[in-house]
Amino acid sequence: MIRVALIGCGAMGEIVARDVYPAVDATLAAVVDPDADRAASVARHTGAHAYGTLAEALAGERIDAVDIRVPHRLHARVALEAVGHGRHVLVEKPLATSLGDAREIVAAAEAAGVVLAVAENYPHLRAVLDARRLLAEGRIGRTLAVRAIRAYRLDGVWARGWRESDGILLDQGTHQASLIRQLGGPVAAVSAARFRDTVTLTLRLESGVVAQSLLTWHSPGPWDQAEASVVGTGGRLDVVVDYEGHGGGCVTWTPDGPRRQTGENYYDSHRSIVDDWLDAVRAGAEPRVPGREGLKDLEVVMAAAASLDAQGAVIPVGEQ
Ligand SMILES: NC(=O)c1ccc[n+]([C@@H]2O[C@H](COP(=O)([O-])OP(=O)(O)OC[C@H]3O[C@@H](n4cnc5c(N)ncnc54)[C@H](O)[C@@H]3O)[C@@H](O)[C@H]2O)c1
Repeated sequence: MIRVALIGCGAMGEIVARDVYPAVDATLAAVVDPDADRAASVARHTGAHAYGTLAEALAGERIDAVDIRVPHRLHARVALEAVGHGRHVLVEKPLATSLGDAREIVAAAEAAGVVLAVAENYPHLRAVLDARRLLAEGRIGRTLAVRAIRAYRLDGVWARGWRESDGILLDQGTHQASLIRQLGGPVAAVSAARFRDTVTLTLRLESGVVAQSLLTWHSPGPWDQAEASVVGTGGRLDVVVDYEGHGGGCVTWTPDGPRRQTGENYYDSHRSIVDDWLDAVRAGAEPRVPGREGLKDLEVVMAAAASLDAQGAVIPVGEQ
């Protein structure tokens, strides 16, 4: 049985400790948070032992793999520490807050021969997997355009000072890059614009297709939202994401009428992410979103950030 240390017992750490680990084939051996109350509260519900640091957890338990759910600016430090001790790593998005750190993590994991997975949700959503299959089968013809949106209200457990100061582009941008890359392929260049903390991106894909993305924290109720649409020569495809119920799925619109494949909830993807990582560890195989793919998503975000600094200039991806 793979023994996991969960690092970070905040909102996300609590969700995976409560909803994911009891259902997967692994033992949650340690939960780590410098906030002793948070660590103790998550430990109480899981049976894991609580620690204040990863080093203490590694000294106190046999740990095979480390699941990192801490604020963005700590991802690199904790991931490098875990990889440095030869442990497999699952790290939340974004992989890191700089491309230098992200490349260092990827190189360190490859050198250590450990599995490095990034917790990007969209590649695990059935709606996105269905969309990729239908696009490949030509259900809506040749792709002409991709449009994606990440719109919800930053409140409740998600309203954190560190998140607001990192900004929506760093917090949500890799999700959008991941989704657009899943549906339209590699991104060649980006131009970005911002009004207050709402950001729009125009992405030129390597195929020549143009994609647009809107990221905002000022939309009440994200449920049943078409988070992406692909327009093709023969119709349209929508990726609908449901955060409340099980109405998410892929919908195609062609002259024959709409066809729906539905039945999932966004939060199911958190279990798929952990299952996929554990399967990769057991098999010594690549996870669905390995570090190198997380790095590609971050390259899009960093090109967008450079574009914001350059008043919307078109910035090639991967050259920062
Ligand atoms: N994939 C998704 O859908 C999704 C959704 C929400 C959050 N996230 C990601 O999860 C991560 C955490 O976000 P959150 O909303 O849970 O934040 P949070 O602020 O609620 O929790 C972070 C926790 O990390 C703890 N922490 C700080 N330094 C630490 C350290 N050195 N070692 C261990 N713990 C430490 C804090 O005390 C806090 O309890 C972020 O990377 C965020 O982007 C992903």
